[in-house]
Amino acid sequence: MTDSTTPAKRPGNPRFSSGPCAKHPGWTLSSLSDAPLGRSHRAAVGKAKLRDAIDRTHALLDLPEGYRVGIVPASDTGAYEMAMWSMLGARPVTMLAWESFGSGWVTDVVKQLKLDADVRTADYGLLPDLTIDPARDICFTWNGTTSGVRVPNADWIADDRTGLTLCDATSAAFAMDLPWDKLDVTTFSWQKVLGGEGAHGVLVLSPRAVERLESYTPAWPLPKIFRLTKGGKLIEDIFTGATINTPSMLCVEDYLVALDWAEGLGLSGLVERATANASAIWTFCETRDWIDNLAADPATRSTTSVCLKFVGAPDGLAKRVAKRLESAGVALDVGAYRDAPEGLRIWCGSTVETSDIEALLPWIDWAYHAELAAG
Ligand SMILES: Cc1ncc(COP(=O)(O)O)c(C=O)c1O
Repeated sequence: MTDSTTPAKRPGNPRFSSGPCAKHPGWTLSSLSDAPLGRSHRAAVGKAKLRDAIDRTHALLDLPEGYRVGIVPASDTGAYEMAMWSMLGARPVTMLAWESFGSGWVTDVVKQLKLDADVRTADYGLLPDLTIDPARDICFTWNGTTSGVRVPNADWIADDRTGLTLCDATSAAFAMDLPWDKLDVTTFSWQKVLGGEGAHGVLVLSPRAVERLESYTPAWPLPKIFRLTKGGKLIEDIFTGATINTPSMLCVEDYLVALDWAEGLGLSGLVERATANASAIWTFCETRDWIDNLAADPATRSTTSVCLKFVGAPDGLAKRVAKRLESAGVALDVGAYRDAPEGLRIWCGSTVETSDIEALLPWIDWAYHAELAAG
């Protein structure tokens, strides 16, 4: 279809935001009624919920034995910054950034921690050079949410590295296969692939990351919400459900409900759903010369945050298309991220139904042609 006929079918759920992302199919507010609201998170009932969230995350992600999972403050940002502040500075560090969130971590390290980092950046759509000395620490984002570019694999990370890898996997975890043996620190937020809430971050530590924490004290002060050790030892309680400060038990309940749904599919089922969603968009782009993936190399295309550009379109057209889709009520929050090149960003994570993506695509045809005709 290349005209501006209004499509007949609408997506059942028009929520395609890249965070907070769509709730899982069948979610209702009443499904949170078992939340222990008004109770202490340190009471047995609260601790048990937090412990359950940790254990089931470990199992669903198929983490190796010895890897620890902690629930920490301040969403993915909190988890990633706590890791950088606690572990960097022990060795030279290479920072890899190819979109705005990775660039934010570069700012943290260079301007705030003032480390003399090897900074490798690439424009939106590309990846930087991934040839790295295995003696260095590496900070990177598995999936660049605002450019729709992900690393194709972890072959570039040495098995016998002596540095640590710190991976922001917030828009990858549960939707992409992550090679845990290559990841020493991994962070994500519930608000992404499982459609949970923000506010809490998840920190996954390998035994080598724990070793770093217990053998290295950074030169800078650490606020209480970043402190993972006491007296040179890991605070194991954090990794069994005794959070550093007060969590929202409503958010925890919401995550547990999301896990109920996710466990029914298994990790491979979750990955397949995202892949099917993204593939539907890729196929759509292949048959049109006016729209293309922002990721230059197909091997690096995201299967969650699919970023698209309008080829040869006048300035402002993408914004108008996003607005038209939103006004029609068929796609909410699909404009490109504010710092990214103009275009659309369509969340394809596991909570999104492929039938909704398929129903959306003719509307993109419609909105594009209507806006082009409008001048
Ligand atoms: C790659 C990446 N890192 C970090 C963040 C920040 O996440 P949060 O707001 O959960 O802290 C986001 C949010 O979209 C992201 O996509």
